[in-house]
Amino acid sequence: MRTLVAAVVLSLLSLASAGEEGKIVRPPDGSFLPSGEISIAARGPGAQLELDGQVLPAHEPFPNVFHAKVTPAPGEHSLALVWEGGRQEIRFFVGDGAPEGFSPFRLHPPFAIDCQTCHTLSRRGRFRSKGSCFRCHSKTTFVDSHQHAPHVLQDCGLCHNAHGSTVADHLIVSRDTACKLCHN
Ligand code: HEC
Ligand code: HEC
Ligand code: HEC
Ligand code: HEC
Repeated sequence: MRTLVAAVVLSLLSLASAGEEGKIVRPPDGSFLPSGEISIAARGPGAQLELDGQVLPAHEPFPNVFHAKVTPAPGEHSLALVWEGGRQEIRFFVGDGAPEGFSPFRLHPPFAIDCQTCHTLSRRGRFRSKGSCFRCHSKTTFVDSHQHAPHVLQDCGLCHNAHGSTVADHLIVSRDTACKLCHN
């Protein structure tokens, strides 16, 4: 029970700091993407995206949340996010035959979908995700694979990257670590 409380406190803490830190949400560092349009998502106060050193125009679907679509030339690219008080830079590769150190990226969902499908603003104007995963995923399979009813693990983002990843099942923690978030 104590570890369960700790996990809840931790996730509240990370929510509290969500407004201040900048973060490139997609693509993850080291992604290998097929040629064509890519979809970039990021957040940060007053943030700006830069692709290979050039400012990248972006939509702001929610305050301080950014979305850009771009078709980069084949090859390696750097993507930087610059916000008030910080900077993050990642590398990704577009095209065929990625060099070592890049892993195939799988978009989630594997087709274009509006940010508004999964996100909204709370009444107090905070950016948040709404529980909409089961419009596409089955609760029955969920219980089999997670050994829990969905309400116990409703904070899907604790273990999954909802925007796609280079890892099986879009996990951000190993299965072992995932269960230890609440169980000893
Ligand atoms: C399939 C559902 C889904 C879609 C579509 C989606 N998101 Fe998200 N997004 C989530 C979930 C779930 C989280 C919560 C993850 C977490 O709490 O770690 C999240 C978190 C985020 C965050 C915060 C990340 C963090 O670590 O604080 C940003 C920024 C974001 N999304 C931007 C976007 C943008 C921009 C789009 C449209 C291009 C988008 N999202 C589309 C589900 C989605
Ligand atoms: C608009 C429909 C849609 C929504 C909403 C959606 N998903 Fe998905 N998701 C998919 C599709 C389609 C796949 C690919 C299934 C496949 O490859 O068999 C997928 C795959 C996944 C996978 C990987 C499973 C696998 O077999 O590779 C995970 C994990 C996942 N989704 C979690 C989530 C979470 C968490 C949310 C809510 C934040 C969510 N999904 C919302 C459509 C959706
Ligand atoms: C505590 C961590 C954790 C949380 C929270 C979590 N998952 Fe998962 N999820 C996993 C793990 C681990 C797997 C891989 C299961 C396996 O190895 O069979 C998985 C697999 C999946 C899959 C692919 C297998 C399947 O059931 O089709 C989907 C889809 C999925 N999760 C959706 C969700 C959704 C939707 C939520 C939120 C309602 C969620 N997950 C919350 C850990 C988590
Ligand atoms: C968000 C916290 C949380 C996470 C993460 C979590 N659990 Fe649980 N688990 C609970 C709670 C709360 C209960 C007791 C309530 C219930 O049975 O739903 C429980 C109960 C269980 C039980 C039944 C134990 C018993 O004594 O009856 C099993 C088995 C279990 N969890 C397995 C897992 C596995 C496997 C994972 C990783 C995929 C996992 N849990 C991840 C919160 C969590």
